[in-house]
Amino acid sequence: MKSDNIIIAVDGPAASGKGTLSRRLASFYGLAYLDTGSLYRGVGWVMLSRGLSPRDVEDAEATAKAFTLEQLDGADIRTPDVGRAASVVAALPEVRDALLEFQRSFAASPPNGLKGAVLDGRDIGTVVCPDATVKLFIDAAVEVRAERRWKELNERDSSVSYEQVLEDIKRRDKRDSTREAAPMKAAQDAHLIDTSMLDIDAAFTAVRREIDKALMKSAMEGQPTA
Ligand code: C5P
Repeated sequence: MKSDNIIIAVDGPAASGKGTLSRRLASFYGLAYLDTGSLYRGVGWVMLSRGLSPRDVEDAEATAKAFTLEQLDGADIRTPDVGRAASVVAALPEVRDALLEFQRSFAASPPNGLKGAVLDGRDIGTVVCPDATVKLFIDAAVEVRAERRWKELNERDSSVSYEQVLEDIKRRDKRDSTREAAPMKAAQDAHLIDTSMLDIDAAFTAVRREIDKALMKSAMEGQPTA
């Protein structure tokens, strides 16, 4: 990683608001953005669309090794089925290893010559970019997250019930945080932001405060001493 690269690591569970915040942060600070969940969703989607079981380790590893974002052209990866398949393949160390290099090189050499990147996911601060300039862990009460995701899904499919979404999120949280390979958890030096009671503007203000402090600190550390 270039030493002057700015890396903002944003981790947290489903529907915590980390995706919306990360996109906004990337645009505000002029950084590239990578939604790492889309890589796991992508592998899950390719497997489902080929009739493969996401639990099959060999097929999942081969799919992850051959995976490119171009394969997702036009694919709907935001469905509950794809979310579940993503969480199943994401528990396999073979799949995580296959996707790690892509994430690290994105952070080391962001596209379009940008001076850094925002990556969001579950293990960015702990595994993918442990030396990130600033680490955030975005969380919210599970009921609040389920309601947000339910409203989002309802715009496309009114047959999905709030209870189903709540159950789905609870199951996914459990699988993501208890798996052995890179479980979802806040890095020790991450700033924890609970968005349960915050709208997007208030959450953005809260995370900017932490980022500006961290950028200031990293700039001071980079100053030559007299
Ligand atoms: O963030 P999103 O809900 O799109 O992620 C889908 C799934 O991908 C998560 O439930 C998780 O299992 C997996 N994931 C992961 N590590 C990441 C990003 C996502 O394990 N860095």
